[in-house]
Amino acid sequence: MINFIKKVIKKPVKKIFEWTEKTSAAAGYKLTPKIFKKDIYIPIEIIAVFIYISLLMTLSFDLDLPLSGVFGLIIFLAIIMFFSVIYIKRTHKEFISDDEGVMLTGFVIIFIVFLSGALKIYGIPVWTVPTSVASILITLLISPVVAGVASLIVSIFLGILFDFSISIFLFSFIGNLVSIYFSARVKNRHDIVKIGYYVILINIIFVGAFSFIEDWESDIILPSVLWSAANGIFSAMLASAFLPYLEKFFSKTTSIRLLELSDFNQPLLKRLKFEAPGSFHHALMVASLAETAAEDIDANPLLCRVGAYYHDIGKIAAPEYFIENQSAVLSKHEDLKSQMSSFIVISHVKEGVRLAREYGLDKIVIDVIQQHHGTSLVHYFYMKAIESGMNDTEKSVYRYPGPRPKTKESAIVMLADSVEAASRTLEEPSYTHLQEMVYKIINNKFIDDQLTEVELTLADLDKIAKKFISVLAGIFHSRVEYPEENKEENK
Ligand SMILES: [Fe+2]
Ligand SMILES: [Fe+2]
Repeated sequence: MINFIKKVIKKPVKKIFEWTEKTSAAAGYKLTPKIFKKDIYIPIEIIAVFIYISLLMTLSFDLDLPLSGVFGLIIFLAIIMFFSVIYIKRTHKEFISDDEGVMLTGFVIIFIVFLSGALKIYGIPVWTVPTSVASILITLLISPVVAGVASLIVSIFLGILFDFSISIFLFSFIGNLVSIYFSARVKNRHDIVKIGYYVILINIIFVGAFSFIEDWESDIILPSVLWSAANGIFSAMLASAFLPYLEKFFSKTTSIRLLELSDFNQPLLKRLKFEAPGSFHHALMVASLAETAAEDIDANPLLCRVGAYYHDIGKIAAPEYFIENQSAVLSKHEDLKSQMSSFIVISHVKEGVRLAREYGLDKIVIDVIQQHHGTSLVHYFYMKAIESGMNDTEKSVYRYPGPRPKTKESAIVMLADSVEAASRTLEEPSYTHLQEMVYKIINNKFIDDQLTEVELTLADLDKIAKKFISVLAGIFHSRVEYPEENKEENK
């Protein structure tokens, strides 16, 4: 949804930019506002200012402060926001370029701020304010670190809002930390309810402890404990209710969603399984390779697995044209010109993207489908065409349209895909053969400039290669001769 809005805004802004550039060039000077050249993005500072204004607005309604107090509050909150932005910028660079993530964080914080203000106005006890919603949603949709910073801002605000109470600040912050810890371990939507139980437990313990520390009167202890328990229920309920809408609106994919997509009962995977069983089996092998390799280089193993399951989904359109689905001795390509064969093979990427969109797959999975061949060559038909005397102008027909992998996960799936396909051609794979094959494939992709748009170091590629080799050695277990065994035999 956000992407759609950005696209709508981008067009007129680009037009204005192009017009400005043209007219300024015609007038004899150069004007190139770089901001419009690439993409429209929302800087984190803008969102921080929105949060800051929301905090001040809500507090100005509820706090009866003298002018000097208001001035002090303005400075104090500005310092909090300033250091929060600096911290996030230093520690979480990828978050800065994540427009949707930045806007989502801002939205969640501002929502909690206004909700807390409203609950206070209506005289609802502070213990019920479900601040843990912020940490649950931001942990699930973005990251625990960003959720930690958001929790700190929300808790400081709550402490100030309720008469500068340190106990309220601690109550909110500890509840949020507990939520972050358990949210990071959520595997399905039902687990969010369990976070609610933990929040209830910690809230009851906290309120109970504070009732002793501050020596509360006995008639307010029980209601406070009950309200704090209700807080856990509200937090889990609100988080569960908001999550699917925020996922859609901000184009975010949680690990819960990825796990749902990894279910083989998903309609598209079912179709792949029955309509292109060879491709389905290939996808499983690629998933196993990609998931294992991702663990070592700080990529997302779950996204690699799900991306790999769906990467060749476009083959459903014409499964018999792909070698893994051909049972007959005669290939479907036998009677076709190389150019036509190449066109059919290449079209599985476009078809995959189309099907993925039709079935409502998430953007990060569609990106893997679209990028898994990059701009690689359809080698077999290219060589065949060369043999039959192809001229230079036809060469582009044998390349995938791209784009090249832009994320670590797409790159890993690309490499795993090629390695898996090549491993099927090995009849008697020794460990050395596997090693040679894996390194050769990765080298070729590197030399062919397929990995230039992704942040992977040579050390990362080496780690990926080693993981691929170990997985393949496990698959070909009974047939693989390890170097040590060879040495023993040679003695
Ligand atoms: Fe493919
Ligand atoms: Fe593939």
